[in-house]
Amino acid sequence: MMMFRSLLVGLALVLPIAAQQIQDVWTTTSDKQSLFNYTDLSDNPINFTSDASASANIQVNANKTYQEMIGFGAALTDSSAQLLSKLKSSDSDKYWDLLNYMFNSSDGAKSAGMTFLRIPIGSSDFSDKSYTYDDTKNDTSFEHFDIDNAPAYLFDTLKDIQSINSVLKVHLCPWSPPGWMKESGTILGGKFASAYTGYYAQYLLKALQAFQTKGIVAHAISLQNEPQNSNPTYATAQIDASMEAKIGSELRTKMDSNGFKDTIIVAYEHNWDNAGSYPVEVMKDAGDSFAGAAFHCYAGSVSDQDKFHDAYPDKDIYFTECTGSFNGDFWSDLQWYLNNIFIGAVNHNSKNGAMWNLVLDGSGQPLLPGTDSCGGKNPCRGVVTLNSDGSYEPNQEFYAIAHASKAVIPKDKNGPFGQRIDSTVSGSNDLVVTAYVTKRSASNDWPRYSLVVLNQGDSDTSATIEFGGKKAVYKFPKGVTTLWWYAASD
Ligand SMILES: *[C@@H]1O[C@H](CO)[C@@H](O)[C@H](O)[C@H]1NC(C)=O
Ligand SMILES: *[C@@H]1O[C@H](CO)[C@@H](O)[C@H](O)[C@H]1NC(C)=O
Ligand SMILES: *[C@@H]1O[C@H](CO)[C@@H](O)[C@H](O)[C@H]1NC(C)=O
Ligand SMILES: *[C@@H]1O[C@H](CO)[C@@H](O)[C@H](O)[C@H]1NC(C)=O
Ligand SMILES: *[C@@H]1O[C@H](CO)[C@@H](O)[C@H](O)[C@H]1NC(C)=O
Repeated sequence: MMMFRSLLVGLALVLPIAAQQIQDVWTTTSDKQSLFNYTDLSDNPINFTSDASASANIQVNANKTYQEMIGFGAALTDSSAQLLSKLKSSDSDKYWDLLNYMFNSSDGAKSAGMTFLRIPIGSSDFSDKSYTYDDTKNDTSFEHFDIDNAPAYLFDTLKDIQSINSVLKVHLCPWSPPGWMKESGTILGGKFASAYTGYYAQYLLKALQAFQTKGIVAHAISLQNEPQNSNPTYATAQIDASMEAKIGSELRTKMDSNGFKDTIIVAYEHNWDNAGSYPVEVMKDAGDSFAGAAFHCYAGSVSDQDKFHDAYPDKDIYFTECTGSFNGDFWSDLQWYLNNIFIGAVNHNSKNGAMWNLVLDGSGQPLLPGTDSCGGKNPCRGVVTLNSDGSYEPNQEFYAIAHASKAVIPKDKNGPFGQRIDSTVSGSNDLVVTAYVTKRSASNDWPRYSLVVLNQGDSDTSATIEFGGKKAVYKFPKGVTTLWWYAASD
């Protein structure tokens, strides 16, 4: 009797071994018939077998690992927060539905699960006025420093997003130092004045502390948005690479002695085209103070990220800004975003990917009065268009983010994010792929292996997914597919 019982217990432990199979798939098709549609294949899963074949093959090699991800998202500008807070007042159910659809990163949520938010320190071209947190002339003791120069709806919205997403990574970035720290004497364009290096570092520390008192501990801080751009119609400033290095060194020291050891400093925040010069110079001068560099899409190409990576392979790469605009069509935009950011930037070592405004209205408003940024006949488009009647529409930017985000969100509550692993496509010029492993909190739980696949051919493409010596066949529609499976780690 005793022997029989122990045999049963032994069997029960051995039997329920899950098979390596694809059960979860998200699809967005070029014709918009499917828009981030979820398919649950658990009743008829796609198995990995030893004899599957197709003309194309996606070889996934989990033994070759790259950067750990922090996720995907956009910028919460004053304008985006203003529109969202108006929706909260007019239709709070819809507001919470929308926040959930964007930011719920729990396993199984019907949501893009965005985990990255970039937030301006002070105004940008998407604010209702230009300001910093201390606009009192020569206020070197920061007596008049006040984070509440920013609108209350910014922090209220951020707090609501945090209530949905506990793993949100907030990246703070100023569009200009206070005007009195500049040669031009104004927030609007001009150069940073070198005499104010220590004061500017102090200002940024105070910004980090002020966000902390609002309940927001930044994951990262940059020193200046687009430091090679000066535009007198909105907050901009030029800070050259050697000056940025000096500010970063001073700020790093202050942060380390004020409880911000875990917040990283990120250099550059500007276009791909100077990836091999400006951020490389910053690392040369002050590499110990900076975790890495951030890139934008408006000049150069994504492969320029390699110039920085080749010079400083141990430094992080972030992709923090690109805007949609109302002239593009759904499918060509979606392809561009995946090729260049949500697959492309990742395959060029970025730990994240982010668009510009999270939310704008159908005319790309509200924009800073008088700015020439994002103007003309092709206004900037938000990731989600939110209209004044409370209706909203996720745009192609949303679907690009969602497909990437889903693939890397932690599987376990407070578990690790996905890490990029090697993938190679053969037998097709139409498939563009990135692959991830998401490790588990408990060592005996199987890791999750996920793919983001862009099929830019004219029709469906059947491909084998080759993994751990076995293959599964999947027919990828013209569009974007995110899928995953679980498998024992070696
Ligand atoms: C995708 O989901 C939408 C909304 O649920 C539905 O209308 C549409 O038919 C689905 N598309 C496909 C191809 O299943
Ligand atoms: C995959 O294997 C399961 C058994 O684990 C089986 O029920 C299912 O039918 C198989 N799927 C296909 C598509 O053959
Ligand atoms: C997020 O989604 C999960 C799974 O659907 C759900 O249980 C949870 O309530 C959602 N979170 C919020 C804040 O609504
Ligand atoms: C700014 O203040 C500092 C000390 O607080 C002072 O030494 C300096 O002269 C002032 N500069 C201007 C331009 O007022
Ligand atoms: C890792 O490499 C070993 C041999 O080097 C191979 O047997 C194994 O299948 C690989 N694992 C994965 C997950 O690709």
